[in-house]
Amino acid sequence: SGVNEPILYVNGVRRVLPDGLAHFTLLEYLRDIGLTGTKLGCGEGGCGACTVMISYFDQNSKKCVHLAINACLAPLYSVEGMHVITVEGVGNRRYGLHPIQESLAHSHGSQCGFCTPGFIMSMYALLRSSVKPPSKEDIEENLAGNLCRCTGYRPIVDAFRVFARTNDALYTNESSGLLSREFVCPSTGKPCSCGLNIKDDKETAKRSICRGDILKPISYSDTEGATYTDKELIFPPELLLR
Ligand code: FES
Ligand code: FES
Repeated sequence: SGVNEPILYVNGVRRVLPDGLAHFTLLEYLRDIGLTGTKLGCGEGGCGACTVMISYFDQNSKKCVHLAINACLAPLYSVEGMHVITVEGVGNRRYGLHPIQESLAHSHGSQCGFCTPGFIMSMYALLRSSVKPPSKEDIEENLAGNLCRCTGYRPIVDAFRVFARTNDALYTNESSGLLSREFVCPSTGKPCSCGLNIKDDKETAKRSICRGDILKPISYSDTEGATYTDKELIFPPELLLR
């Protein structure tokens, strides 16, 4: 495998980009390789059913950038050298749902389900790209590109609101003794990193969103060889060098 061959990573798995697919969108490619969780709705950037997250290393800021994009609009070759995460890479029923997925399911935010992967990916990208938990307003704005014909949005907004920061003072008031990046868990009201290393207790067990330690690392067939931290797919180290 040459250093300069065109590659991308999908859900943590390295893939060589074949020649001759210049006419392919990222969405067509993903569905072609069996990742059919990402849906084709409008095909023109209007509905968000095809939302995936792309990550790349920005050489200027020396940081990983995570973005939600419409896979129906992205030419396949435009994501060369990037990491693409689809809903399959976030979680599933067999190996553990991500707290975002659990919360949406429990709030009845998924009816026909067609829009669901897109909503999950928009929310996932927001959380992964936020240094501190987003505000409720951030969350609602972030969903502006995702359409749902079934739910009337309220259950979806409610499901995701639990990821919003609950106390702005904790982020701005250094004298509180809390680091500005500390996250106040919506379940416990205490600083924690929900879904990463919180200890389970009665209070969190009642709520579905704050049980990171029951989410096992995902390793199903099409992500074989992928590297996970606790449960999030990491940025592939190979892509730092490109
Ligand atoms: Fe509607 Fe991509 S399929 S935005
Ligand atoms: Fe049917 Fe959203 S649940 S389109």
